Amino acid sequence: MKKMILFHPDLRLKKICDPVINITDDLRKTADDMLETMYDAPGIGLAAPQIGVLQRLIVMDCVKDEDADPAPMIMFNPEITASSQETAVYEEGCLSIPDHYADVARPKEVEVKWIDIDGVEKRHGFNGLWSTCVQHEIDHLNGKLFIDYIGVMKRQLITRKMQKLKRELARKKGA
Ligand code: NI
Repeated sequence: MKKMILFHPDLRLKKICDPVINITDDLRKTADDMLETMYDAPGIGLAAPQIGVLQRLIVMDCVKDEDADPAPMIMFNPEITASSQETAVYEEGCLSIPDHYADVARPKEVEVKWIDIDGVEKRHGFNGLWSTCVQHEIDHLNGKLFIDYIGVMKRQLITRKMQKLKRELARKKGA
């Protein structure tokens, strides 16, 4: 089922999420809902707090070629275990901050360990868009957004525009 994506600014997007202890059927369902919500948006990654679930769970699929097979990934308790010295800059966006983009520099390659949907520990290296995306999503689990990497002026401008958008959406809903 498609879920509503929370928009910045929202306190739930600033929280440090809890580790997943048991991968319950409920959480598997949440992961499926997150993938559906992400594909529908459309986006390439989504973290549980973005739908108001404050647990360490992310989903992503960075396959951009529409003719290629989808490659959905579900990660519980993802953790960066190694990062390259070399950095790469990508223009990032976020489903919780629609229509705003900014260049962010991050380690070019990272190694991540996580628990998969069957409860099996996985470890894998990521580069390119996958690397940027997994770092961006893990940041969400620590209450961090991509705009936290940019200048304070631009961040405040984006936040004001988002507050205005949220007021307009709330008005429409009330009307
Ligand atoms: Ni995001």
